[in-house]
Amino acid sequence: MKQDLIKEIQKLKKEKKAIVLVHNYQEPDIYEIADFLGDSLELARKCLSCEDAERIIFCGVDFMAESAVIINPEKKVYLPALEANCPMADMVDVEGLLELQKKHPGSATVCYVNSTAKIKAISDICCTSANAVRIVKSLDEKEIIFVPDRNLGLYVASEVKDKTIIPWDGYCYVHQKFKKEEVIKSRENHPDAEIIVHPECPPEVRELADHICSTSQMITAAKESLAEKFIVFTEIGMLHRLQLECPDKKFLSPAKICLQMKKNSLELVRDSLLKDQHLVTVPEDIAVKAKRALQRMLDCK
Ligand code: 13P
Ligand code: SF4
Repeated sequence: MKQDLIKEIQKLKKEKKAIVLVHNYQEPDIYEIADFLGDSLELARKCLSCEDAERIIFCGVDFMAESAVIINPEKKVYLPALEANCPMADMVDVEGLLELQKKHPGSATVCYVNSTAKIKAISDICCTSANAVRIVKSLDEKEIIFVPDRNLGLYVASEVKDKTIIPWDGYCYVHQKFKKEEVIKSRENHPDAEIIVHPECPPEVRELADHICSTSQMITAAKESLAEKFIVFTEIGMLHRLQLECPDKKFLSPAKICLQMKKNSLELVRDSLLKDQHLVTVPEDIAVKAKRALQRMLDCK
């Protein structure tokens, strides 16, 4: 049954000249039909180098698909599961951000890609969890408004001491659930393991970690480490990717699930290809402005 569905998807992909981009948190079933697997930054970059494809099927959440439309408006971008939306992206509103910018006239606004196109359109530059520190360091401004993730903003503040970071008060409901006590218990129960943490986790969790990484950076950290066991503080789906990349190492996690990331399924990908659903669009005036912030991030070496 599953193999039939995969065959059907592969055939439809060819017919429709489609490429399937898949975020690391997706289910292993979805990995099987991926043309490219990655974190937010890698997926955004991939949107620029898929010349042969006419359409992109995005197995992730809404802001990732929106970014794909903004970065490469020539492609048709589809989100198989319409309700796959990242709640953090809606935690900052345009009026509130404009007001904050007015209060800090000499500041720059750095916008985590987990945000709406409207917010990107009024930001100076975007960042992902993989490059947030580097992006902030690259700016001339000393005062930085950071939206919408306060935990990533606080992490950047701890790494960039010569700038003042003004974090917005948004958060990821999945990473916010990790507790400092879970890290302490993990260390007690697995003294031979290293702790890997996503920077969306609260500061008291992050401060106890051995590695602070974006999802794909976790793979490099695990490969380069001499340790054989890792406790991973991020969405549970990441364990599949880590296990795939490092089959001889062991990965554990205090299981937390992002329900929105799990909305995708092979059936929905098949339907997306077959019925051309659900096309993601961004109004042109907003897309043009949002592209400046995204392109500036992609150009930042
Ligand atoms: P990455 O860019 O590290 O994959 O993170 C995306 C995300 O949504 C984390 O919750
Ligand atoms: Fe959004 Fe958190 Fe899910 Fe990532 S894990 S998509 S930040 S809700």
